[in-house]
Amino acid sequence: GVVSVSETTATAYPNIALIKYWGKRDEALHLPVTSSLSLTLDIFATVTDVRVADDLPADVVTTADGSPSRAFTAKVVAFLDVIRGMASDDRRARVHTVNTGPTGAGLASSASGFAALAVAAAGAYGLDLDRRALSRLARRGSGSASRSIYGGFVQWHRGDGLDTAGDVSSYAEPVDAPQLDPALVVALVDAGEKAVTSREAMRRTVETSPFFQPWVDASKTDLHDMHSALAAGDLPAVGEIAERNALGMHATMLGARPAVRYFAPGSMRVLDRVVELRAAGVAAYATMDAGPNVKVLCDRRDSAKVAAAVAETDETMQVMVATPGPGAVVGGTSD
Ligand code: PMV
Repeated sequence: GVVSVSETTATAYPNIALIKYWGKRDEALHLPVTSSLSLTLDIFATVTDVRVADDLPADVVTTADGSPSRAFTAKVVAFLDVIRGMASDDRRARVHTVNTGPTGAGLASSASGFAALAVAAAGAYGLDLDRRALSRLARRGSGSASRSIYGGFVQWHRGDGLDTAGDVSSYAEPVDAPQLDPALVVALVDAGEKAVTSREAMRRTVETSPFFQPWVDASKTDLHDMHSALAAGDLPAVGEIAERNALGMHATMLGARPAVRYFAPGSMRVLDRVVELRAAGVAAYATMDAGPNVKVLCDRRDSAKVAAAVAETDETMQVMVATPGPGAVVGGTSD
């Protein structure tokens, strides 16, 4: 008989949170405890191709370097199951994904990865979804992916309630900051895979850290202050809020039992250098995610100076300058 095939390719970029997402109130639906706010980058894109065919006995997942880990494949299959449910379509898919940045190193590869997969798979399964629905869908793969559907500054609303009410109200949308011209200097302290996944680290923090709830309370103030700072185009204020929010998130992890610590000696050297830059009058502010890499927020005009200063802490370290990038789109080549 005739084999029906449909295929869509999509491209998405990672985002780095200035107000972090840390902790779920629903593990299965990826409903967060707090709202978060991020900047989508213009480096480290993920390009994903999804090909749905009725002659495939099972999903097949491949990456640029061959076949991915079982854990990665399982997450992709679980995500495709969500889409198959929405589309009432049982067909299996072949997923090919190419990541231009380091994977699993706290550089938001899951954000770009699931945003690209959401757009590509929705297309291949014939779902006609608007941006909000795509954001909710990407969230099901990885919470932070909800934000990579959009470019620039983006807020992911925690939403209200649980189950369906939580699911429909927890999505991302763009935030305007027309006066800002920011850059994020990414210091690749260690591009290897992290020892503890963000999923496990979050769960442990929520369940055991006495510092989690105080950070949640502080995060509400941080988000409120961040909106004022973005609207005013006040980069030093944006940076200060981002830095305190990130260090507070890491404090919650240090308080978990057993503790989760992503800081490495190289991270500390970059953090020290950021303090020195500020003492020298350069508006530079650090943030860190579930890994040892440090991202330094500054004005685009200062980015070369900041990158050079950060690079001095370790001559072998890769340092990259990112500026605001676009939202997820259909298109791209994954060959
Ligand atoms: O989306 P996940 O499950 O990879 O979690 C991301 C968590 C952080 O990167 C540490 C913070 C954030 O808001 O992106």
